[in-house]
This record gives sequence, structure tokens and C-alpha cells, in this order.
Amino acid sequence: MIKKGIILSGGKGTRMSPLTKAVNKQLLPIYDKPLIFYSLSVLMLAKIKDILIIVNKGELSQYKKILPNGKNLGIKIKYIEQNSPKGLPDAFKLGKKFIGKDNVSLILGDNFFYGKYLSKKLLDCVKLNKGAKVLLHKVSNPERYGVAKIKKNKITSIKEKPKKFVSNLAITGLYFFDNKVIKYSKKLTPSKRNELEITDLLIKYQKENQLYADYIGKGFTWLDSGSIKDFYKTNNFVSAIEKKKKFKIACIEEIALLNKWINRKNIINSIKFYGNCEYSSYLKKLIYK
Ligand code: G1P
Repeated sequence: MIKKGIILSGGKGTRMSPLTKAVNKQLLPIYDKPLIFYSLSVLMLAKIKDILIIVNKGELSQYKKILPNGKNLGIKIKYIEQNSPKGLPDAFKLGKKFIGKDNVSLILGDNFFYGKYLSKKLLDCVKLNKGAKVLLHKVSNPERYGVAKIKKNKITSIKEKPKKFVSNLAITGLYFFDNKVIKYSKKLTPSKRNELEITDLLIKYQKENQLYADYIGKGFTWLDSGSIKDFYKTNNFVSAIEKKKKFKIACIEEIALLNKWINRKNIINSIKFYGNCEYSSYLKKLIYK
């Protein structure tokens, strides 16, 4: 069972400069809320209450303004500052103490997941006791991602940003690991681009026959908001859904309330905290029905 989650929310966001020169990418808006709300909401839908957010050195105070400690969401949020981005598996080295002897999930702060049965899928993924699990999604630009080749429902090979076509199944930025992830991450060496690669970590599990895959298939949306074009794609998607369906994606207070982690009083606190805005009006509707 996985009860802990890490959000990797550092990075320089170079591909989105100058927007990211003063503000970290994950604090920029996707429609009406910061990008990080979306990855946090995914962990909360997976019923994960113990969360570590890894941020760039010097940016902690900005994050704490919007997500202080999780208390008002009925969760625990801890932070670690990262001196410089060293690749995704560095999260497990930095988070060693936080993980302890437990299993852990990792989500990239710029990944967006949406779908009717998303919670069901997530709750299934966190059942993992041994090995690692990834979620795959068919894409038209596999050269941008880590990809996995599948044969008879098993991952037969993995490649980070393949120059030549290997597979169109991208490995999305949400991973589930057993505790061996700490040991394996320590053994990794930097790649040609001088980063520890998540794909190298996954290969270690694959070699032990302990890498499992599930799909973000039809009926699901996965968007990686790393480039300015992708960022606006996610923005447009959220604004279209929220305007049409009259509900919010990634309203973290609503998820906490549905999970019975908080009560009306907490929602009232949040309304006071956010002030007079559209998000608060939505929160009001949740408690004054
Ligand atoms: C990272 C990973 C890649 C994964 C992607 C998902 O790439 O290295 O394997 O497919 O996230 O968003 P990045 O977006 O950091 O280049």
C-alpha cells in the first residue's frame, strides 16, 4: 500500500522563460488555480495524505504562502529545497527520511491528469506492495518523453526521449514505487545530459521483473505542461471543462471534504484565506447547499 507521495516541483522552467524568471512554473495559473494544485489533487484522489513537495532553493516562501502545511486540507505537507535539479530520481535521495521504510508515489508538478474513473485507477495503483508501476499514454510525439515498449502486456524496453521510433506509449509523470526505490536511486549515474534519469530507475525494476504498467486510455486526458504551447493547452482544457460542466478540476478543498478529511469549518477558513474570488464562491456552494 502507498500512503506517501512526493511532488517534484523544482526545475528552472527554461522552456517557459521569461514567464518563469521570477515565478516558479508550478505556481503559474492553469485557469483559476496554480499548476501545483492539479498534481496535489491527484495524490489526494489517491487518498495520499502524507506529502513532500520538493522546490527550488529560495522558492520555499512562495509555496508556503499558498500551501502552508496542509492542515486545513486534513493532510500533512512537508517541503525540501533542492540546490539544483539533478533529475527525477534525486527526489528519492532527497526524500529518503520522509519515505523511511514505506512505499512512495512520485508525481511531477507539471503533469495534468483528468478522467471519469481517475480516482478508481489511482486507488488501484496505490495498492502496490512490491515493485514499481507506471501509467502509459499513447502520444503523437514520443521523442519528447520516456517511452515503453510492450509485448504481451509486459514492458520489454524503456527509452528516454528516443531519437528513433521505439514506441508511442509515453511514460507519464506519475510513478508508484516500493521502498527499494531509495536503494536503486543511489546506484544511478548521470546520463549524457548530466541528469539521473527516471527511465534508468525503471529499468532496474524491469530487470528484476517487477515493473508493472497500466494505461491512461480513452476517456482520460494527460497533459504535460512543460512548454508554453502545452501550458496553454492545459489552460484551455480546464477553462472549457469548468465553464461547461460547472464544477472545478483540482479543487483541493472539495476533494478533502469528499474524503472526509475536513469539515465545513475548514472550508470557511479557506474562503477567508482566498478572499472574495470565483474559487471562494465555488467553495461557498459546497457548504451552503
Ligand atoms: C520527464 C521524464 C520522462 C517522462 C516525462 C513525463 O521528462 O524524464 O520520462 O515521460 O517527464 O512528463 P521531462 O518532461 O522532464 O523532460
